[in-house]
Amino acid sequence: MIKFSKDFLLGAATAAHQVEGNNTNSDCWAMEHMEHTSYAEPSLDAVDHYNRYKEDIKLMAKAGLNTYRFSLEWARIEPEEGHFNEEAIEHYRDVIRCCKENGIEPMVTLHHFSSPVWLIGKGGWEATSTVEDFARYTRYVIEKLGSELHYVCTINEANMGLQIAAIAERYKRQMMAQMAKVQAAGGKDDADGTVQVGINLQKMMADQQATAEENKKVFGVEKVENFTSMRTKEGDILVMKAHQAAKAVIKELAPHIQVGLTLSLHDMQVAEEGGEPFAEKEWEDEFTHYLPYIQGDDFLGVQNYTRSLFGPNGGLPYPEGAEMTQMNYEFYPEALEHVIRKVAKDFKGDLIVTENGVATSDDSRRIAFIEKALAGVKNCIDDGIPVKGYCHWSLMDNFEWQKGYSMTFGLIAVDRTTQTRIPKESLFYLGSFR
Ligand code: NOJ
Repeated sequence: MIKFSKDFLLGAATAAHQVEGNNTNSDCWAMEHMEHTSYAEPSLDAVDHYNRYKEDIKLMAKAGLNTYRFSLEWARIEPEEGHFNEEAIEHYRDVIRCCKENGIEPMVTLHHFSSPVWLIGKGGWEATSTVEDFARYTRYVIEKLGSELHYVCTINEANMGLQIAAIAERYKRQMMAQMAKVQAAGGKDDADGTVQVGINLQKMMADQQATAEENKKVFGVEKVENFTSMRTKEGDILVMKAHQAAKAVIKELAPHIQVGLTLSLHDMQVAEEGGEPFAEKEWEDEFTHYLPYIQGDDFLGVQNYTRSLFGPNGGLPYPEGAEMTQMNYEFYPEALEHVIRKVAKDFKGDLIVTENGVATSDDSRRIAFIEKALAGVKNCIDDGIPVKGYCHWSLMDNFEWQKGYSMTFGLIAVDRTTQTRIPKESLFYLGSFR
């Protein structure tokens, strides 16, 4: 069996909004409770990780993991613009302490999709003021907790908004002209299944008109520019600037911290002749054009879940009979190795797999996924690629954004009626790689 070196960061990941519960000052919470919501259900108590983090961290340690990637919730720490909540920061200090007491390296993400409501009222992730706001929040966090941390991811899946915009555009075109044709030819008719995050794009687009008025009431703006909104080219660069501003603050206050952002990356494959320019263009949009903004970072967080196929007319459906995950994309753990190799050609810092996983109710398929994915990681390391860690998504079944609780990515199941934790075999399997 493959073993990683003792200093390899082997662990699991979560995000505050998806696990903590009652994130009431966040944009996601507000949107979950709107009349015209694209969320399947509200997050409510989530899996009550805010109160049960000790139990969860202990389970990780028991299984042999040595790293926990989790996010700090901006909406808790700065619930009102310029007003910071000591209690929230002290909570995260306790989480970090608990990790250390259990021999676990805390890897912190400063922004994982959810934002404070007030930020959205100022124009959200399309407003230039967000760069400064994010830097101020970062300064507060690092002043308080910087000395406790070695790894900080500034922004999770910094490329998500652009990916969603591209998919929405494609979906609109499909809807208008080709839906019937594509379906008749057995092509993809579910645009949601092409993005590595749980969103309900079809519903979102249908509801657009009706939400404008409600947005005005809830956020004070007609158009909500949250982190997973369809991003403009300018907004895309703004996210990079926010990353750079946060990185500068971290390096000023705590130069010992390793800093990077994370990107959602697909394994772009040319499945039929003529697909090359499409695959290249997608890779350019998803990865290469960010290089000027991230080259020089200590590490890049690689997040991969599946592959995308291309032919002479663009995207292709998954192969006939392909195993599909609950997320409606292909079960294809080999994608991770391919993506790492591709990224390593251009990015010169360390690589950390900050997310990789599978939504399935069959834990034996999760085990099979982990086995293949980690074999790929090991091959990369053996070839000299500086992969320093692997965090599986997710530590536990949780709130998969607009798709709600039906997607089960966890190494630990949770009975939400009692919040009882039920570790799956895959948790111990993952831990056995150390
Ligand atoms: C990536 C996101 O970072 C995470 O929040 C999400 O749950 C997983 N993908 C699975 O879709």
